[in-house]
Amino acid sequence: MKRNSIVLFVFVIVSSALYGDVPEIKDYWNTGLKDFRREGFIKPDVCGQCHDEIYDMWNGSMHSNAIIDPLFVAASKLLLKGVENSGEREDAEHCVACHNPIAYRSGQIKGSSDDYSNVDDVTRHSISCDMCHTVDEIVKLRNASFNTDPGNGEDDPGVKRGPHDQVESMFHDSKYSKIHTSSEICGTCHNVTHLWYITRLEGTYDEWYHSPYNSLDPEEKVTCQNCHMRQSLGKPSTGMTQRPDYPGTSASMGEERPHIYRHYVVGANTLLPELLDHPVHGQLAHERLEHAAEIEILHAGTGKKVDSITVRVKNKGAGHMLPTGVTEFRQMWIELTVKDKKGKTVFFSGGVKDDGSLSDDTRIFQTVFGDSEGNPTINVAKASRILYDHRIQPKGYIDEFYGLGKAYDKPLTVHAELKYRSMVPSLVSILLEKSEVSVPVVVMTVSESKIE
Ligand code: HEC
Ligand code: HEC
Ligand code: HEC
Ligand code: HEC
Ligand code: HEC
Repeated sequence: MKRNSIVLFVFVIVSSALYGDVPEIKDYWNTGLKDFRREGFIKPDVCGQCHDEIYDMWNGSMHSNAIIDPLFVAASKLLLKGVENSGEREDAEHCVACHNPIAYRSGQIKGSSDDYSNVDDVTRHSISCDMCHTVDEIVKLRNASFNTDPGNGEDDPGVKRGPHDQVESMFHDSKYSKIHTSSEICGTCHNVTHLWYITRLEGTYDEWYHSPYNSLDPEEKVTCQNCHMRQSLGKPSTGMTQRPDYPGTSASMGEERPHIYRHYVVGANTLLPELLDHPVHGQLAHERLEHAAEIEILHAGTGKKVDSITVRVKNKGAGHMLPTGVTEFRQMWIELTVKDKKGKTVFFSGGVKDDGSLSDDTRIFQTVFGDSEGNPTINVAKASRILYDHRIQPKGYIDEFYGLGKAYDKPLTVHAELKYRSMVPSLVSILLEKSEVSVPVVVMTVSESKIE
């Protein structure tokens, strides 16, 4: 930590002890960040006039929907109600910093308690072409700490930064940018730290940074873009599949190139694309999940009897923890069925109860946050600590051990499925204020084995 930050940190602690409140935390984090000029940016429809294919892929992505996403909107409003001190309130107000950087940093939307309909054609689609392609400095690899250098709107569009040197565009200048060809452009938002408690709320970039995918050998290195910007239907492009090139042009009148980066940029969200009617993005996320993991059934027991089963879950496709991102909401779990030689089920774990929740014995891979008293909370603004983090390292595995309660005669048939859903249905009900919601469950992978 630099000396200035230590002084500032001590000041914040001391003054919060004196006044019981936390002053100006935003300024502490935002050192080096400049305000954005809303008028400088250009609406995505303009870019789409020449970059029509890229526009169609981006339109419907979670980036284009980051502030239209009804789950985000409801969550950010609801969280505010539960906060107990100004540190928590500051964090709860800060959501739009990533979910709509131009609106937030230009003062158009001041925070979560402000009116989100206060957007216009430039800011309605949050993480737009011009937002990403004007980034000229990453100040910190967390909490949207980046600066931009837009032009002056459509009349003077300025410089667009991208992967090539000297491209010819009749509309804008352009420039090669190292930031855009590295994972850092993603990492500035895909690392989320609580403003006051400094709890790691999301750490996708750091997880990738410490993974084998971040190899020092440029030939071996797999950036976020090399998995997430090479996908099309039938070609999921993960760590366990090919990651193909897409030859073509990126704009009308653009040069023919060996690979044009794809802009679907989907993850694991299969619920929102369905709610917002973007079936292709939903299907792509589905295919991604089906190429992320593998399971293997290992068994234990002596002689003719089997009294336990071990299920090994391997993260073979994700370049970060599996799952990653908002893992307090996401659920990945094992459904395990063991049948005896007559076909009778003698053991079952991982079932969905009538109310949509998972049965108590389910092995779930996710993160649970705790509030300042140590009680579990899904309110990230109150997350003072991580109570539980059970996820799988990139290229790693976790063994789940199941005691069967008694020893069974062989042969036994063991069937295991790895399942995923974007959110617990009861939470979706609360957020959408709807009693009946169906959340798609994706079967990521299946394994069956006969123990003889
Ligand atoms: C009048 C047509 C036109 C419009 C409008 C337009 N572009 Fe371009 N753009 C081009 C062409 C042509 C290229 C060159 C493509 C090539 O040769 O690969 C290009 C290239 C780019 C590149 C690639 C730079 C690189 O390093 O490869 C980026 C990024 C870009 N444009 C962003 C934008 C953004 C953002 C907007 C909207 C604010 C926009 N463009 C609007 C025509 C346009
Ligand atoms: C989340 C940030 C982000 C958004 C939003 C985004 N892009 Fe990109 N775009 C990138 C990155 C990163 C690359 C380069 C990837 C690399 O080289 O690894 C890229 C590449 C490009 C290229 C060059 C393609 C090539 O391979 O030659 C063009 C042109 C482009 N984007 C235009 C657009 C347009 C138009 C939009 C909006 C419809 C858009 N981008 C939205 C991040 C973004
Ligand atoms: C300006 C901040 C920002 C930048 C830069 C950014 N993202 Fe995102 N990204 C977000 C936000 C916010 C969401 C979630 C929106 C939502 O779900 O409401 C998101 C969503 C996603 C998702 C979809 C997650 C899901 O649940 O399906 C993927 C995948 C993703 N980003 C990858 C990337 C990659 C790869 C890059 C770099 C090329 C990148 N992002 C750059 C902020 C950003
Ligand atoms: C080796 C390929 C690979 C690399 C590299 C990779 N990802 Fe992923 N990513 C995946 C796969 C597969 C999934 C779907 C399974 C999952 O949710 O982890 C995924 C899912 C995601 C999600 C969705 C999480 C959720 O539950 O909503 C986000 C966000 C994301 N990635 C962002 C990133 C960012 C940012 C980087 C770079 C720092 C990155 N990814 C690097 C393969 C990759
Ligand atoms: C530093 C950037 C950042 C901040 C600040 C941030 N988010 Fe996010 N948020 C993301 C990214 C990146 C994703 C995508 C990861 C994923 O999908 O797993 C995301 C995804 C989400 C999702 C999942 C959306 C869905 O449709 O499943 C919700 C809900 C959400 N954020 C709520 C919030 C709330 C509420 C706050 C404020 C307390 C907040 N976020 C603050 C970056 C941020």
